Amino acid sequence: MITASAPGKVILFGEHAVVFGRAALAVPVTQLQARVTVSENSRGGIWIEAPNINLSSDIEQLPPDHPLARVVYSVFTALGKSHPPACTIYIQSTIPVASGLGSGAAVSVAILRALSAYLGQPLPDEQVNTLAFEAEKLHHGTPSGIDNTVITYIKPVYFIKGRPVKTFHVGAPFTIVIGDTGISAPTKESVRSVRKLWESDKPRWEKVFDRVGNIAWDARQAIERGDLTDLGSLMNANHVLLQRLTVSCPELDRLVEAACKSGAFGAKLSGGGRGGNMITLVRKENAPAMAEALKSAGAKRTTVTQVE
Ligand code: MEV
Repeated sequence: MITASAPGKVILFGEHAVVFGRAALAVPVTQLQARVTVSENSRGGIWIEAPNINLSSDIEQLPPDHPLARVVYSVFTALGKSHPPACTIYIQSTIPVASGLGSGAAVSVAILRALSAYLGQPLPDEQVNTLAFEAEKLHHGTPSGIDNTVITYIKPVYFIKGRPVKTFHVGAPFTIVIGDTGISAPTKESVRSVRKLWESDKPRWEKVFDRVGNIAWDARQAIERGDLTDLGSLMNANHVLLQRLTVSCPELDRLVEAACKSGAFGAKLSGGGRGGNMITLVRKENAPAMAEALKSAGAKRTTVTQVE
């Protein structure tokens, strides 16, 4: 029996524009985890159990383009296993689904690691990242690759699509409170609608993406300097551009506003938007009060994470 885990993630800056080649910053959130256990089974076949999504099925009963089935098959193909042994793949996750916290990528990474190790040929990180990116295409349509990258390498990333993975230095640790609207919002849909917007007037939206990319670059410098005031203002500016890209929603705006009124350095939505999660930058000692303020403004759950 083999178990592997993978963390959630938050995008600090640059979501959506990153799909169009601009820079973005993301960090792993290790309090949230997807966990996959692969064990022998005596009934034969490859059985997938994912209680979080009420799935319990022989892989052959799933449509061939089912994201979980595709990840499993990608391991067999990568390892040249045309007759894989019977096993049960048990998937559990504390990362809310369709909420911008990387649940799809984390489940893919954990399956890739657990199953390849179970078959005696653990995949190296680079291959895990590549195969998880393929699975992301099923979740997101045209993903940038930032989610699978930050989740595979479990370190802060300064990400530009198609470029080698870069981490960034954190000058002074900082605290983020994550607030969940509780609204399920598949990233695929928001990514698709931003693409439509871009197709309707490319010069206009390219300028917006440029501004988001510049914010991500400035944010990286602010993080390296440990300048929380600048970092907070950059978050607010990024949120306004995300509103312009039509990926915010009243519930996210309410949480962002509540955070700013409760003394945050700044706040913004995080991930695909239209629901899901927002993040706010606070002093460590203010995190519990901020979590309460977000709950009073409608957050269904909050998570505090430290970026080191
Ligand atoms: C999703 O976590 C981030 C998006 O920018 C999509 C992507 O980069 O693939 C919205």
